[in-house]
Amino acid sequence: MILAIESSCDDSSVAVVNTSDFSLVYYEKISQESEHAKYGGVVPELAARLHTKALPDIVLNAKPYFSHLKAVAVTSEPGLSVSLLPGIVAAKSLALSLDLPIIAINHLIGHIYSLFLDSKVLLPLGVLLVSGGHTMVLDIDANGEISVLCATSDDSFGESFDKCAKMLGLGYPGGVEIENLAKNGEPKYNFTIPLKHTKRLEYSFSGLKNQVRLEIEKCGACINYEQKANIACSFEKTACEHIIDRLELVFSEKKWKNFGVVGGASANLFLRKELEKICAKYDSNLLLAPLKYCSDNAYMIARAAVAKYHKNDFCDGFNVEMKPRSDINKILIN
Ligand code: KG4
Ligand code: ZN
Repeated sequence: MILAIESSCDDSSVAVVNTSDFSLVYYEKISQESEHAKYGGVVPELAARLHTKALPDIVLNAKPYFSHLKAVAVTSEPGLSVSLLPGIVAAKSLALSLDLPIIAINHLIGHIYSLFLDSKVLLPLGVLLVSGGHTMVLDIDANGEISVLCATSDDSFGESFDKCAKMLGLGYPGGVEIENLAKNGEPKYNFTIPLKHTKRLEYSFSGLKNQVRLEIEKCGACINYEQKANIACSFEKTACEHIIDRLELVFSEKKWKNFGVVGGASANLFLRKELEKICAKYDSNLLLAPLKYCSDNAYMIARAAVAKYHKNDFCDGFNVEMKPRSDINKILIN
């Protein structure tokens, strides 16, 4: 078995999986959302303290499996440095006390593995990664080598939901809040789809966020529920249209038998419906992660670690390189 620790942002999570069949034998996730919600976003210093408090407890809960462990895995990149650190320290402490090797996992690779939690990886593969920190279209070839085809030049898809939610006075994180409010609205505002005039393979959400801000300002202090719901609905629709619009460009060049969507924002049902349509149009099979494991979790980190374990891809002793920012272009997923 492998025990994995994930703490790259505001979720402390630990999972134990079997290396033979990837089955999950222990899982725990402590979300810090309610603590950060008071401030309208993640407060790094607070995240660090909460990880430091939560991780030892949820690692210790896995004690019945300690004697079965072959390695300890940990998210080492990318993420908030003060969030990654408590996870890495916890992983090193456990590995030291049990005399086990450490496996370092890239968080984005972890998200890709959320498509294959209990199965073999399907390659080649196209992937849309939509999280709070990233928005990317990836091409993964038959050898597992990743090429970034399209990425955001400013805000990420999830971040734009968080920022619009904040402007509308909704809670944090904003993705679910916007999605729920949008269900009660209609797309009455004609927001412009970003980059529509170009064929550049790029995403950009900051202009759309500005369009939302201007409409909220026009409504003034007396903005009512119906106006907010219509803005949320129009924003969600336009943000998803932007995702699909760039994917149209990619799909017209690339033929993927399988196309997956991962990351916290892949839980968005409107986005999923739009992706179903484009995948049907290009005869591609849409792969989805279970809703429970779209957002950050240690199960996907443990699953990614099993692939590295079978390739004997361990850290050199306790040398875990932490990278708050990292590039996944040209790296291998296993
Ligand atoms: O992958 P994730 O849990 O953390 C990062 O690695 O960033 O993604 C979190 C992001 C947040 O921005 C959150 O608002 C967004 O995913 N999100 C959503 C939805 N659920 C979560 N965005 C849109 N619709 C949702 N239903
Ligand atoms: Zn994530």
